[in-house]
Amino acid sequence: MRPDLEGAIGVFDSGLGGLTVAAALANALPQEAMIYLGDTARVPYGNRSPATVVRYARTNTDFLLRQGVKLVVVACNTVSAHALGGLAEGSTTPVLGVIRPGARAALARSAGGAIAVLGTQATVRSDAYLHALHELDPERTVHQVACPLFVPLVEEGWLDHPVTTLVAREYLAPLKDTSVDTIILGCTHYPLLRGVIDAVAREVLGRPVNLVDSAEAVAAEAAALLDRAGLRTPLAAAGAHRFYVTDAPSTSQRVAARFWGGAVDREAPLVLEHVDVVTGS
Ligand code: DGL
Repeated sequence: MRPDLEGAIGVFDSGLGGLTVAAALANALPQEAMIYLGDTARVPYGNRSPATVVRYARTNTDFLLRQGVKLVVVACNTVSAHALGGLAEGSTTPVLGVIRPGARAALARSAGGAIAVLGTQATVRSDAYLHALHELDPERTVHQVACPLFVPLVEEGWLDHPVTTLVAREYLAPLKDTSVDTIILGCTHYPLLRGVIDAVAREVLGRPVNLVDSAEAVAAEAAALLDRAGLRTPLAAAGAHRFYVTDAPSTSQRVAARFWGGAVDREAPLVLEHVDVVTGS
């Protein structure tokens, strides 16, 4: 292990969407080293069975633990929904998911209206957001909407495309005449569609709504967790970052830059390296 990556924060996602979470972590914790793993060879997870998601999540987590990370951030809603509980078992390394921080952030932003959760099929089917929201506020009305076409639209770069607006109108139509005042972007790809989702939500509901991206909430929880555990790296220099993908890096490089766009050291190029999570080579 490179000395500048010792005790890094490990972050993984089914693909590149988790870079929105990695970027929020880099902004909130610039001194921390970070190892990112995008499982681009097996993406998407969002329409797979829970057992498959659990199996993939295990290999990704084990890979990061072998790198000696001090915290694992599951930057994927689908994995957080199905596999979070088992991932920390048998390890002293804390594992943080995106669902609870997202649910907490949504309730903090909401003025008491209903909460809408947009996510993959697997996330919506798991009811993980519904349970997390109801644990905090059992009376709250929650609407869940699976939006399976959003991920390929983002991967295609159609962030502001008329087709994306049409798709969003279709998905958000059931929210008409509800009391929704806050929408959770319950998939790591969706923050890139913030503009379209915001415009269509206003159109459908006839009023502005809060859009909650769990990335910032997760970064704040990661900082608090490191503080509580006495694991925070003192602010001396910017932490090193390393980015791994499980498929050929060349196919992902362009999309990765789009997701990472807002991070602190964006002038340093994001370079994807290939890794086999099973053999580590
Ligand atoms: N990253 C996944 C999530 O946040 C979406 C992409 C996928 O389907 O794998 O749920």
